[in-house]
Amino acid sequence: MAKAQVKYTCSACAASFTKWSGRCDSCGDWNTIVEEKPLSTSGPAKKTLGGMRGKQVPLSDLSTKEAPPPRTQCGMGELDRVLGGGLVPASAILVGGDPGIGKSTLMLQAAARFATAGLKTIYVSGEESSAQVRMRAQRLGLGDAPVQLAAETNLRDILTTLETEAPDLVVIDSIQTMWADNVESAPGSVSQVRAAAHEIVTFAKSRNVAVIIVGHVTKDGQLAGPRVVEHMVDTVLYFEGERGHHFRLLRAVKNRFGPAQEIGVFEMTGDGLSEVTNPSALFLSERDKPTAGSVVFAGIEGTRPVLVEFQALVAPSPNAQARRTVVGWDGGRLSMILAVLESRCGIPFAGLDVYLNVAGGMKVSEPAADLAVAAALLSAREDTAIPKDCVVFGELSLSGGLRPVNQTENRLKEAQKLGFSSAIAPSRSKAGDGTGMQIRYMDDLVGFVGEVFGA
Ligand code: TYD
Ligand code: MG
Repeated sequence: MAKAQVKYTCSACAASFTKWSGRCDSCGDWNTIVEEKPLSTSGPAKKTLGGMRGKQVPLSDLSTKEAPPPRTQCGMGELDRVLGGGLVPASAILVGGDPGIGKSTLMLQAAARFATAGLKTIYVSGEESSAQVRMRAQRLGLGDAPVQLAAETNLRDILTTLETEAPDLVVIDSIQTMWADNVESAPGSVSQVRAAAHEIVTFAKSRNVAVIIVGHVTKDGQLAGPRVVEHMVDTVLYFEGERGHHFRLLRAVKNRFGPAQEIGVFEMTGDGLSEVTNPSALFLSERDKPTAGSVVFAGIEGTRPVLVEFQALVAPSPNAQARRTVVGWDGGRLSMILAVLESRCGIPFAGLDVYLNVAGGMKVSEPAADLAVAAALLSAREDTAIPKDCVVFGELSLSGGLRPVNQTENRLKEAQKLGFSSAIAPSRSKAGDGTGMQIRYMDDLVGFVGEVFGA
C-alpha cells in the first residue's frame, strides 16, 4: 500500500504545505504550521442520506413556490442587525474571537433570547459543565429561559441528541473542544476542527437546524483557529474588543444572508453584555476641548453611520529611522498619506515620529477616512486644533485629489444628531446640502491645507 502522505497545515489560516517551516507563507504567522495526519479510514461507515442523494429540483420551482424563509429576531437589535435582520433557519454561523472576550456570554444570552422567541434551542458546551453554564445563566438573569443544556464533546453523541431532539437552533461552544472519533488527532487540531465543523454543518443543513459554532482565535499554533472553518459556514462573525476597554464589537466579515462589514456594539457589564445602540456617543465620549491632533471622522460601518475620533501625535525622532505606529487603521495607508502630504503639499514628515490611534479601540477600514487622517497628522504637526464641532471625511488619491465617498447624507445626519455643526467634505458630494450642516467642500489636499491650516 502506498504510504499516506503527511501534510503540513497552518492552524491559523488553514493553508497547507508539503513541508514544515517556521513561518506560514500565506498568513505570515510564526509557529503555526503543524503536521496533519491523513484522515483515517477506520471507524464506522457513515450513514448516507438515502433518498436525498443527488436529488435535483428546478430553480424556477423554488423561486415561485417557496417564500423566503422567515427570520427569527432575538430582540437584541445589535445582534439581529449583524446577522442581516435576524437568524435564517438552517443557517450556519461561526462566531470567532479571542479567549475571554465574551463569546460564551453573548451566545448564552442569544440562545436564551432565541428560545424565548420560540425556537427550540440546545446549548452544547464542551468547556463548562451544565451546572456551570446554568450558574452563568442565573448570573445573567436568564435562569428561566427555555434552553436545553448539554455538556458534551463527542460529536457522535451530539449528533444523536440533535437527531432525536430536532431543535431549531444549536450552539456549539467551542469547536476546538469537539471530538470526532473517526479522526485520529487530538481535539483542537486542524483535522479535528475541520472534520467536526464539516459534520455539524452538513448534519444541521440536512435536518433544517440553524447552528452557531463558537471558535477561539488562537495564537500559538497548538489549536486550530476559526479561519479553518470560515469557508464551511454561511456567516462569519468576529467578536472583538481591546483589553482594558469594556465595550465589544461583533463584526460580520462574511454573510450570505446580509451585508458584510456590519457591526454590533456591546458593553461588558457585571451582568453580561448589554447593547450599545448609539456607538458614536461612546467612541467620542472623552472629548471635552479642541486638541491638536484630534479629528472626528464621520464613517459608515456596514449600514450604519458611526463617528470615530482619530488621534495623531507627531514628534521629532531621536532615532535615525523615524517610527510609524498605527492602532486601529492600516499602516500601509498611513505611509501613503504621509507620502501624498510630502510630495503634493510639500509638508515633510522625515525625521518625525508619527503615532496614529483610533480612539476607543475601534478599527476603521474605510478609505473615506483618508482626509481625517491627513487632517489629524497636519493638526498634530502644526499644533493647530481642528474646531471641536467639525467632522471630516473624504478619500485621497495619489495625485492629492479628493474623491467623493458614498452615503454623504447619512454621515452628515449622524454628525448633526451628535451636536456637530460643520463638516469638511470632498466637492462633488453635495448630497449633504439639505442637512443644515455648514459644509466646506474641497477639491484636493492642497486646497484643504491652505484653507484649514493657512499654509
Ligand atoms: P466568556 O464569555 O467566558 O469568554 P469566552 O467565551 O469568549 O472565552 O467571558 C469571559 C469574561 O467576561 C470574563 O473575563 C469575565 C467577563 N464577564 C463579565 O464581565 N460579566 C459577566 O456577566 C460575565 C458572564 C462575564
Ligand atoms: Mg467560552
